[in-house]
Amino acid sequence: MAVLYTHARLATLDPALAGLGLVESGAVLVEDGRIAYAGPAAQAPDGEETVDLGGRLVTPGLVDCHTHLVHGGHRAREFEMRLVGESYEAIARAGGGIVASLQATNALDVAGLVAATLPRLDALLCEGVTTIEVKSGYGLTIEGEIAMLRAARALAGSRPVRVKTSYLAAHAVPPAYKGRSTAYLDEVVLPGLERAAREGLVDAVDGFCEGIAFSPAEIARVFDKAVSLGLPVKLHAEQLSHLGGAALVASYGGLSADHLEYLDEAGAHAMADAGTVAVLLPGAFYAIHETRRPPVDLLRAAGVTIALATDCNPGTSPLTSLLLTMNMGATLFGLTVEECLAGVTREGARALGLLGETGTLERGKAADMAVWDVETPAELVYRMGFNPLHARIHAGRMERRRPSFAAMEEGAR
Ligand code: NIG
Ligand code: FE
Repeated sequence: MAVLYTHARLATLDPALAGLGLVESGAVLVEDGRIAYAGPAAQAPDGEETVDLGGRLVTPGLVDCHTHLVHGGHRAREFEMRLVGESYEAIARAGGGIVASLQATNALDVAGLVAATLPRLDALLCEGVTTIEVKSGYGLTIEGEIAMLRAARALAGSRPVRVKTSYLAAHAVPPAYKGRSTAYLDEVVLPGLERAAREGLVDAVDGFCEGIAFSPAEIARVFDKAVSLGLPVKLHAEQLSHLGGAALVASYGGLSADHLEYLDEAGAHAMADAGTVAVLLPGAFYAIHETRRPPVDLLRAAGVTIALATDCNPGTSPLTSLLLTMNMGATLFGLTVEECLAGVTREGARALGLLGETGTLERGKAADMAVWDVETPAELVYRMGFNPLHARIHAGRMERRRPSFAAMEEGAR
């Protein structure tokens, strides 16, 4: 059935239009879950059904292109340690950090991981997210990584959302392999990748290139295996120091290099040449009290496109709001409203290799949209802790957001 959404102000993010691709009196025709038309209402074809959006703003459904959403437990204790001056790196070297989440994650089976993750996923969906990326990386055994990826895949069966998975066994060297990272790569990371890929659980391969994690040479071994399996790569790069991870992932034609606080000019140019997206993660910057900002001017000058994501994880970014992420991107990193909105829609989709499918309101793409009770797009970026979502449409299916307190009152009666 063809449904015409009328009386809408569109921020199409269509790259053929200037800026946010605004269409003041717009309409979107949705047919079989896809956008059949998006543009001026005056030229819109008829639908079999019409939905009046009351002049509200419609954006593409939001894309959270970097999350560690599947995990067990929390690390509130490390938060308290940072409050009294401990650094993320020092906590990690003392046995905290990523390995601290292993036990809590591996204690859960796939169903338990899904149950632990759904409240975080729901928080994202309530803000208009229609696509997420989810990484493994807290199992750090073959079975543990596979369970995380199965849980990530299962999310798409539990909620109306598109999920892309990334294999991140090269996230940390687990205690069982302390001082033996080569053996960890040979015995877990590489054979685990082969198995997970064979089982259809992997959409991309990620790694953490850092002094407390893996060297560029080690990451290159993981990427070589990814290439041999036909999988795209991405990388946590230049977060705490400059190791050349951005140039490395670009040399593999990578989808994205993420974090990038310590990115240098050569890395930025390598990314631009390869079309590798810069995924900035202000939640992690904020939570670990980082003071060095990613070089946004350098990215702009080099022509690197910028995406923004929550990096939702139990250690460095316990953040489940892309709206707040945009506000942080603007206030902490100096991004414009346009860059923030593009960063959580079009560029997020690009960072996942999904630009042909979602991320803009263009004919032929999935009908993934967010309908907002705001007057201007800038309102989505400027508020902190307020959610103006009116409705979310995923693959053509519309769900209205219930005003939460009213719903609670009703439930109490
Ligand atoms: O993206 N940088 C590495 N990985 C995560 C941190 C994960 C953790 O500390 O649990 C990140 O910030
Ligand atoms: Fe991350």
